[in-house]
Amino acid sequence: VMRALELQRLEGPDGLRLVERAEPPSLGGVRIAVRAAGVCFPDLLISQGGYQESPELPTVLGQEVAGVVLSAPAGGPLREGDRVWAAPEGGGFAGVVEVPPERAFALPDELEFVDGAALAVNYLTAIFALSRRGALHAGETVLVLGAAGGLGTACVGVAAALGARVLAVVSSQEKAQTARVAGAEEVLVGEQWTDAVREHTDGRGADVVADIVGGESTLQAVRCAAPEGRVLVLGFTAGSIPRIATNRLLLRNVSLTGVGLGALVATVPGLLRQTADALEPLLRAGLRPVIGEVRDLADGAQALRALQTRATRGKQILSVG
Ligand SMILES: NC(=O)c1ccc[n+]([C@@H]2O[C@H](COP(=O)([O-])OP(=O)(O)OC[C@H]3O[C@@H](n4cnc5c(N)ncnc54)[C@H](OP(=O)(O)O)[C@@H]3O)[C@@H](O)[C@H]2O)c1
Repeated sequence: VMRALELQRLEGPDGLRLVERAEPPSLGGVRIAVRAAGVCFPDLLISQGGYQESPELPTVLGQEVAGVVLSAPAGGPLREGDRVWAAPEGGGFAGVVEVPPERAFALPDELEFVDGAALAVNYLTAIFALSRRGALHAGETVLVLGAAGGLGTACVGVAAALGARVLAVVSSQEKAQTARVAGAEEVLVGEQWTDAVREHTDGRGADVVADIVGGESTLQAVRCAAPEGRVLVLGFTAGSIPRIATNRLLLRNVSLTGVGLGALVATVPGLLRQTADALEPLLRAGLRPVIGEVRDLADGAQALRALQTRATRGKQILSVG
């Protein structure tokens, strides 16, 4: 039996209950005693029944964990007692989770479990987005929207670690501080930031824009992208999916690039491992997640509520072990 945060009804955070339930069946993967679990936006969307597929209830959410290996397939790189971080497809808000071997990675000694629990969704997405989809080069300028959130702080940190100059957009002074801690050089506060981006780039615009917000922001992002700039479509936290007249892309030589790591992992063998391998040297060189609130597993609903009400700063973690 283990402690787990169960989603019992598709009612958002109110649908969660802390329960004792049976440990997941052993399928020969990497079995992990979870010490910390990350809370990400998709968890909120699933709890509301608003994600691509609705789960069968009751279910356990949680796609990011760090912990200690209980058992692992013989001959693989991991063994009992190793510290790991992992990307389960759900089930992470619990004492024990099991993942296929390709979804578990050694946790560098320098990182705490709370750091490790922040990596699986946002940091893999950030490096996949910036490097692979955005072809970011050192010395380029990156603009990150929603820069104080989980994915935002990840994009800021990874971009800076890759040698980019980072501009950030946030909605309040408090959040500006978080974006700075993450590694942003300039932080723009408020809803109108196109002119400020041009000013900070000698009129040229940003080479890469990480657009996590969608809605009205996406057109602004296209407007302040540099010639041959890449606007990365990452999420729609503003709630609405924008439409863009494509002549704007043609006239300004701007690319609008979709980024969905989960979808590509399903079709490109080894992609998750390759993405984690690209992240590891940055972690070893000092990149760290910006951890906001750490709560006990029992208080997971509060973490989802904070995402819902736009109240998060950095990454929210649930302490499990
Ligand atoms: N494409 C992928 O592969 C991928 C992977 C992971 C996550 N995502 C997506 O990325 C998005 C962000 O996830 P996250 O974990 O970073 O969430 P988060 O921590 O809540 O951050 C989201 C940010 O969006 C901004 N925002 C603007 N308007 C908002 C509104 N109306 N409500 C809430 N937030 C608003 C907020 O910043 P301000 O208040 O400063 O504006 C907030 O900091 C989600 O849509 C998620 O599904 C995509």
